[in-house]
Amino acid sequence: MTTVHPSNAETARAWDNRERSYWVERETYFDRAMAVPHQRLLDAAAIRAADRILDIGCGNGQTTRDAARLASAGSALGIDVSALMLDRARLRTAEAGITNATFVHGDATNHPFEPASFDLTVSRMGVMFFGEPELAFANIARALRPGGRLVVAVWQDLAHNEWLREITNAVAAGRPMPTPPPGAPGPMALGDPERVRQILGAAGFQDVGFEDVQAPSCYGSDAEDAFGFISGLVETALREADEPTRARAVAGLRETIATHDTGQGIYFQSAAWVVTARI
Ligand SMILES: C[S@@+](CC[C@H](N)C(=O)[O-])C[C@H]1O[C@@H](n2cnc3c(N)ncnc32)[C@H](O)[C@@H]1O
Repeated sequence: MTTVHPSNAETARAWDNRERSYWVERETYFDRAMAVPHQRLLDAAAIRAADRILDIGCGNGQTTRDAARLASAGSALGIDVSALMLDRARLRTAEAGITNATFVHGDATNHPFEPASFDLTVSRMGVMFFGEPELAFANIARALRPGGRLVVAVWQDLAHNEWLREITNAVAAGRPMPTPPPGAPGPMALGDPERVRQILGAAGFQDVGFEDVQAPSCYGSDAEDAFGFISGLVETALREADEPTRARAVAGLRETIATHDTGQGIYFQSAAWVVTARI
């Protein structure tokens, strides 16, 4: 891997952690929870057979593989800072017999992509973690050919995302939780369309558009299944809490999950933007 940009050092340490296989083990859970934004991202991307596609923060690679399938005479490259997830992405790609998808271990902020070598950049929830988003999107813009397009799914703000709001509240167990400053790197960093317009504009993109994608997301087939998945999402907060707080947080989480049990699975409302732009 090329050196991570200093603005992403902490983020890269968190994601590129060989000791923590949660994101890989729960691959199918993430893919299921993302099912609606995933499809809307692909619809908006309108991939053509010869497209050369760059997938930012590709994780275990579902979007890279689907992009490669659609670009049957083209190619897809997934980039991620997590070596563990890239191992999984390569394995699944080989298992699926896909030969036009490749993966690179790197930081999208400073990876030396060949200039103007892609027709399209996609990302499913992989572009909200940049320490210096203008710099990262400018690097991505350079990788796109003139007229190339950007189509990325990002979360809307917390107020519209029941899943994260309720999970966070349950885990807080009555404690005041630190709220990250608006726009701080993290899942909700690109929730504000005005900010996204500014960042993309500064990076050289134009015609920025937003598609509102609201959908119930499945977090498990039943309460126990969802608890296993969700408790891993908040593993750090649970681990760092003292014993009585942890017990309250776990009880709160179980209660929240129970209120979202539809009998057909555990569903929380989610809201994403599919952001489109061109260079
Ligand atoms: C929420 S996960 C989404 C993964 C995948 N796109 C999916 O939908 O399953 C965010 C991903 O972005 C990656 N990531 C974060 N910052 C990155 C950066 N600067 N360059 C490349 N990948 C990054 C993380 O390692 C992680 O795999």
